[in-house]
Amino acid sequence: MKKVLSGIQPSGQLTLGNYIGAIQNFVKLQETHECFFMVVDLHAITVPQDPADLREQTESVAALFIAAGIDPSKASVFAQSHVPAHAELGWLLTTLTNMGELERMTQFKDKSEGKDSVGAGLFVYPALMAADILVYNADLVPVGDDQKQHLELTRDLAQRFNSRYGDYFTVPEPYIPKVGARIMSLDDASKKMSKSNPNAGSAIKLLDPPDVIRKKISRATTDSGREIKYNLAEKPEVSNLMSIYSLCSGMSLEEIEAKYEGQMYGGFKKDLAEHVVAKLEPLQTKYNEIRSSGTIHEILKQGAENVSEIANQTVRDVKERMGFLMPR
Ligand code: TYM
Repeated sequence: MKKVLSGIQPSGQLTLGNYIGAIQNFVKLQETHECFFMVVDLHAITVPQDPADLREQTESVAALFIAAGIDPSKASVFAQSHVPAHAELGWLLTTLTNMGELERMTQFKDKSEGKDSVGAGLFVYPALMAADILVYNADLVPVGDDQKQHLELTRDLAQRFNSRYGDYFTVPEPYIPKVGARIMSLDDASKKMSKSNPNAGSAIKLLDPPDVIRKKISRATTDSGREIKYNLAEKPEVSNLMSIYSLCSGMSLEEIEAKYEGQMYGGFKKDLAEHVVAKLEPLQTKYNEIRSSGTIHEILKQGAENVSEIANQTVRDVKERMGFLMPR
């Protein structure tokens, strides 16, 4: 069975972008693949995190995985820091990574832009992400569009290791959805919807109450025209809302255009809000049940137990190939 791995940072409340770009595909792929889904807490600390918030968010992201439909009896769900092999392989791969490769990463450029001081962890972040994937020899990595460049580097590192030390790593493929790979901000369609954007109105959070969702959508930026047409170049804001509409309602973009022909934005936005609410309400109910049941710790413990032996074996194999004296 082919292996799938992906991860989400517990660096803020998850957004509709995380759900559409990534989690929905996790749920789909668990039926046909051996799956590893992680809360990447070691990645989250590459920017400062309040310790209590980090703990809460880690549990919350894991509970959202389950609430969204990931079944821990089909897929391993775990916290990255519970499997120390990730950090160890991360270091080994950092030594194979060039500064120039890391300097080119757009996520690093975006996150470090305008900052007086930038942590070294943020810079070497992609080598740890490569380790996450390669430590299980994953074949497929479901992610949104913004992670494509990190995946390219992962592939390069796998190939570099294989050519230096002999074929070992599987070179992974990205799995990026055709629609919804890049959900944009509600206040600025040139930026992706992000859990770390300080403007609350920019993102629909998966745990936003229905009225907050309605308000955010009614205030979402649109152009001064009145046509509901999918045209990314000329109508990026409306096109983004149409993508969300399509993904939450199951209607195609053409069906949406036809339904709102000759109408203004108000009715379209109202309906869109109801589709988003209908999509998220069952997830929120399940989330609350899971949080109050207190089962997340057990799920994470079991997940880490399932995967640790594979990860530890990879680190042993890699160290042996690189020439470390192995303990006997
Ligand atoms: P993160 O935590 O920023 O995002 C988690 C996933 O959600 C996707 N995503 C989006 N998709 C569509 N539209 C958006 N607006 C949007 N915003 C986020 C991301 O592409 C991602 O798939 N580096 C990763 C975490 C990571 C990882 C890994 C992923 C660490 N190790 C190994 C895959 C495999 C990140 O920062 O994701």
